[in-house]
Amino acid sequence: MTFITSPEIEEYIYRLSVPEDSIILEMEKLGHKTGFPIVDRIVGRFLFLITKLKNPGLIVEIGSGFGYSAYWFTKALSNGKVVLTDFSKENIELAKKFFEKGNLIDRAEFHVGDGMEIAQEIKGIDILFLDHQKTKYLEAVKKLEGNLNDGALVIADNTLWHGKVVEENPDRQTKAILEFNKYMFNNERFFSSLIPVRDGVLLSYYRKG
Ligand SMILES: C[S@@+](CC[C@H](N)C(=O)[O-])C[C@H]1O[C@@H](n2cnc3c(N)ncnc32)[C@H](O)[C@@H]1O
Repeated sequence: MTFITSPEIEEYIYRLSVPEDSIILEMEKLGHKTGFPIVDRIVGRFLFLITKLKNPGLIVEIGSGFGYSAYWFTKALSNGKVVLTDFSKENIELAKKFFEKGNLIDRAEFHVGDGMEIAQEIKGIDILFLDHQKTKYLEAVKKLEGNLNDGALVIADNTLWHGKVVEENPDRQTKAILEFNKYMFNNERFFSSLIPVRDGVLLSYYRKG
């Protein structure tokens, strides 16, 4: 991971915030040990805050891995639920174990498969979180726009893509991220901001038709 902000600043913010929740620490340890790309603590706390501010009824994640980002979302919920999706059964089973241990299992729904297809069946989304294949972000938002509630938030991780978004000859994945960001900033139904924390987090407010 190339950091957008300097590693020293990242480290400083990271260290400011040691989670009290032992499950979060356990998940971070697993992510770091295996090199699995969790959103990590700084973005996790951001997701928690956004959820507190928004007070959503329904959060849908495309690309949940073993549940780290979803765990932060779920912890912040007063009511409502989080839908986790991942291609990998193993990841989802692991997520279930963490959610059970953290007593959050009742507020979550777990699905194995293509999150974009699974989410197409789910109406009334208040927060849509994208953290799957970077080449599929635009497709996901176009497919799922109709399932968002008025005033919903779309949050997408890795939208500065290791800083590659400003490189001269973007590769396929970078091109896809560039297109996605452009769409989210130029579509009148979305009002977006790109926050340069960690690998870039796009936050967007959706106005229906
Ligand atoms: C970056 S990881 C997710 C990390 C997770 N959001 C977190 O912070 O803990 C990406 C995950 O997306 C999953 N994935 C990729 N494409 C997907 C899709 N179309 N539907 C569901 N999951 C997908 C992969 O299996 C992988 O586990």
